Amino acid sequence: MSTDEVRDRYAAAGRRALDGQTRARDADDPFGSVHYGDDAAGLPVTTSLGCGNPTAVAELRDGETVLDLGSGGGLDVLLSARRVGPTGRAIGLDMTDEMLTLARNHATQAGATNAEFRKGRIEDIPLPDASVDVVISNCVIALSTDQSAVFREIARVLRPGGRLGVTDLIADDTLTDAERAASADIECVATALTAADYRSLLRAAGLTRIEVQPIRDVGHQLTSAIIRAVKPAPVRIAPMSQAHADAVLAIFRAGIDTGNASFEATPPDWPTWDTTHLPDHRFVALDENDHVVGWVAASPTSSRCVYAGVVEHSVYVAPAAHGRGIGAALLDALVTSTEHAGIWTIQSGIFPENTASRALHQHAGFRELGTRERIGQHHGTWRDVIAIERRSTTVGNGPGGRIQSGPDDPETEGLARG
Ligand SMILES: C[S@@+](CC[C@H](N)C(=O)[O-])C[C@H]1O[C@@H](n2cnc3c(N)ncnc32)[C@H](O)[C@@H]1O
Repeated sequence: MSTDEVRDRYAAAGRRALDGQTRARDADDPFGSVHYGDDAAGLPVTTSLGCGNPTAVAELRDGETVLDLGSGGGLDVLLSARRVGPTGRAIGLDMTDEMLTLARNHATQAGATNAEFRKGRIEDIPLPDASVDVVISNCVIALSTDQSAVFREIARVLRPGGRLGVTDLIADDTLTDAERAASADIECVATALTAADYRSLLRAAGLTRIEVQPIRDVGHQLTSAIIRAVKPAPVRIAPMSQAHADAVLAIFRAGIDTGNASFEATPPDWPTWDTTHLPDHRFVALDENDHVVGWVAASPTSSRCVYAGVVEHSVYVAPAAHGRGIGAALLDALVTSTEHAGIWTIQSGIFPENTASRALHQHAGFRELGTRERIGQHHGTWRDVIAIERRSTTVGNGPGGRIQSGPDDPETEGLARG
């Protein structure tokens, strides 16, 4: 269905609603008012055409600016306006004049003073960069003929740390191109993304912490779904200082609590941690409020001088900050500082089950040397550890790539640290 056909269809739906023709919905109808409860009391639920309630999935807060893509009759904008309160703002965007008229009428009837409706296409959002805290949408993105552009625009208008909370239709993996073409006049069948495509396009637009949660089969091999994602806030990598001690140990503890990050049962006290880690090779990742969201540090592997260029590292990222590339930025800082100091090997150990850490390290140039079987007991269970190392290609290599100096003893020690 082309954009013009979509507009014509919703212009007609808007005209019917303006004429007071709304359709009663059965309780088991997958679309419309059935998704709203008492929170929508006094608002125009009968003109809702959505497949969910995005305001229920987006966790809106006082003072936030919310943008609803394809706002239709305006219910989700008015609900958002209530949730964000008088210091917040809710903006509806729609390309169909009749829907904009309907929504503005509803806003007037509701007495909403912090809701507004703008004309425009979701593929070309008429708002400045980084001007919105939350983007919501209800059963609209699946209608677009250019979802990559929609997600790029969402990433552009969201402020760093802003979030996406959407209800939409996704296509079942079984839907073939031939079936899409044969049913092209049924809304969304030709254009709805599969869950995997939804994820990969959101990721390509730079969004992270992506969740696609199927909810309900709505027929035609389409399923309603909740989709959430976050625009990563930039982090700053800084040398670690004593002022970061509490946060560093708290993040260490959160890692220990996963059961897959360390043999340690509890973090040491700060003086112990401090004396066992090299002062020049410890960094924190700080968010936009200067809160510590991750750290990396290294310890000497041995007092033997042949090992002077070999360190053992730990890297931890706060659970709420996962998926934002923070671990990679911390490892990058560690590699730079250690190479600058003439260190040629960074090594450590990872529990095999910690697939995220294995992928992070492989991406950062570490190789897996092999599995050390049942190397130690963890809460009474013998655990394997994968030994990893990153051998510098710039430090400790002589002419022709020969090693000038380095460990001459195959001794390994102290893997699977925190
Ligand atoms: C299925 S209705 C959903 C309306 C509303 N979100 C709701 O839950 O009631 C789709 C709405 O999106 C609008 N729309 C569809 N494609 C659009 C696009 N590419 N740009 C802007 N608006 C669009 C239509 O005009 C229509 O109002």
